[in-house]
Amino acid sequence: MQYSPPIISCLTERLVVLKEVWYLVGESNEITKSEIVSFLTDKQEIVLFRNSENEVIAFDAHCSHLGANLKSGRLSTEGIICPLHQICFQSNGKSKPSPFGQYEQKKFKTKERFGSVFVYIGEEPEPVFPDFSLIPENKQMFETFRTQKVMATQDAILVNAFDPYHLEFVHKRKLMGSPTLHWDKKNRILEFLYTSQVIGYKLSDCIMKWISKNQIQVRIRSFNGHLFAIESDLGKVKSQLLLSLNPFPTYTLVSGILVQKKTFPVFNFLRMKLAGFLFRRFLLADLKPLEGMKLQMDHLKQDSYFRVIADCLESMKKE
Ligand code: FES
Ligand SMILES: [Fe+2]
Repeated sequence: MQYSPPIISCLTERLVVLKEVWYLVGESNEITKSEIVSFLTDKQEIVLFRNSENEVIAFDAHCSHLGANLKSGRLSTEGIICPLHQICFQSNGKSKPSPFGQYEQKKFKTKERFGSVFVYIGEEPEPVFPDFSLIPENKQMFETFRTQKVMATQDAILVNAFDPYHLEFVHKRKLMGSPTLHWDKKNRILEFLYTSQVIGYKLSDCIMKWISKNQIQVRIRSFNGHLFAIESDLGKVKSQLLLSLNPFPTYTLVSGILVQKKTFPVFNFLRMKLAGFLFRRFLLADLKPLEGMKLQMDHLKQDSYFRVIADCLESMKKE
């Protein structure tokens, strides 16, 4: 790959990337048997709760009878009760017998991983769910990032995550060797691998330099353009971050889960705080240049490296 000034810049076309998505809703302990949680995407509103078997249930927020919003309903041991005509929807989505007849509420698949709840919106078959390889599962500890509203579109964020050119300008990281980009079209996984060294002098740069002996191996994978698995190998210290994008036309809600290796309680706390600080510094650096960006697809397609990303974006376009 040849290095030249970044060519992503401005203008026009905006892609809508909305098919088949696992969304991060929140921490597992936020979904309880006593409270209805509402979750909103650009196209779908969902309500979530736990049933008496402790399973997370996710329904279309709008009652299949006349459309009242179930978020202001209530929970019973039998299911969720609509606030308007009191129809009770059981965990399987079917209503209990009611004077208005039998109804069925649209149900969404849920998953509990990394101490958090995910909901799946889309057709079957569902896409591959991210895994991590750097930290063994029995040694993982998690911390959830609160949802942030980022004034950038999803496609701009996706291209940025795989853009090797901006690393030097925005993050003060110099590439060591050639990065590799691989697009698994069948599973819609875009993978980016690179090794970098720190060339900046801010506090976070100095810490990174010191921890990593100035050699940072990074693996970024995008799963269908919505979930990002980011793995950083700093030698003795390894970090994993799962980012979830919830895109809207002019902004994106970004939330994430930081995964670190468990050791001793005091170290765990410090390690999590330090990793959170470093990841935040890194991600915050991206926000300003991405704000208000409109992706120039023509230029993206003209570059041999970015063409792979353009291909990936197009295959995720809403049909
Ligand atoms: S609108 Fe929900 S029961 Fe009538
Ligand atoms: Fe970046």
